[in-house]
Amino acid sequence: TEIDIAAEDLDLGGYPHYMAKEIQEQPESVARMIRGRLDDRFGVARLDGLNLTPRELRGFSRVKILGCGSAYYVGQIGATMIEELARIPADAEAASEFRYRNPIIEADTLYIAVSQSGETIDTAFAVEEIKRKGGRVVGLVNVVGSTIARACDGGVYLHAGPEIAVASTKALTNMAVGFALIALSLGRVRDLSNADGQRIIDAIRALPGQIKSILDFEPEIAEHAKAVAAANSLFFVGRVRGYPVAREGAQKFKEISYRHAEAYQTSELKHGPLALIDESLPTVAVVPSDELTERNLAAVQQIKARGGSVLAVTHENVDFGELDVPRIVVPKTEPELDPILLTIPLQLLAYHAALTLGYDIDKPRNLAKSVTVE
Ligand code: G6P
Repeated sequence: TEIDIAAEDLDLGGYPHYMAKEIQEQPESVARMIRGRLDDRFGVARLDGLNLTPRELRGFSRVKILGCGSAYYVGQIGATMIEELARIPADAEAASEFRYRNPIIEADTLYIAVSQSGETIDTAFAVEEIKRKGGRVVGLVNVVGSTIARACDGGVYLHAGPEIAVASTKALTNMAVGFALIALSLGRVRDLSNADGQRIIDAIRALPGQIKSILDFEPEIAEHAKAVAAANSLFFVGRVRGYPVAREGAQKFKEISYRHAEAYQTSELKHGPLALIDESLPTVAVVPSDELTERNLAAVQQIKARGGSVLAVTHENVDFGELDVPRIVVPKTEPELDPILLTIPLQLLAYHAALTLGYDIDKPRNLAKSVTVE
């Protein structure tokens, strides 16, 4: 991989690893992501770089998000936000699959390519394929002037700053925030009211401070990580908004701790994977305070009843009753934005698990920061 990074950006700034530094930078990097992009008067996001007029934004009847690895999982978070806030059918697909399956490109679909590096070859080829067939594609990219950024018809830069650790953290968080901004833009040319737009804007503005408060719990999360790192295999579960959070949590965990971590929809546990649950297989469960809390708690209870241990990533007001479940509590935001904050402690969980196990955190075996060749 060719990475063009200034010498001062390579300074670890007193942190033991780039991943630790990049996790801690998130309050600032999210603040950079939203600076100048929130319009309080009209409850909208200002995203001039998209190069889309309100009429064009209004004309899309579907959204398709493409990325690889963690960017694909954040794309799933984004698809849910867009469906919730703009009520347009949206889904995410691995760009690596999309490009090989002769995809149907539609003129009224907005394609969004997501990439930290802007150089991932699968994503770049997906963009070329969309353009060849006349589709409209915008980028959610970190590296300015990168291949994907240049190939797209417009886009939103992430302003996360250079990300050096192979396991992506701050760029992913800015991608998720970027999707919130795009969802707001698509929503406000449709049925999302000014008041609802304002509600989302206020919540976005509070994110940097809320992320800071999660990072303050690092010592507690490190203790939880020691406990889960002892297992050879783990489940990460969540449903609807929480499912892509679980997928990304499992991805990060397996990338750097080399532990088998498998993500499932909590709702699907009873349709198979529950058979694997015993004392040796802990589950990290995403249990936000929302419409599905009761169902999630019922699933936690089923896991516990089969001898499995559960670590919950949850909100303060979720009542676990008699269930003996250690918890990582994140601050509440608007329900549509919950995934942004729920993802943060899972970065720290993976980081501290890898630290406990003594692995090379910034350069995990067999992986590259950016896969630029076939
Ligand atoms: C590689 C990295 C992943 C990353 C993916 C997409 O596989 O190991 O961490 O999520 O590429 O990278 P991108 O630069 O396109 O976001």
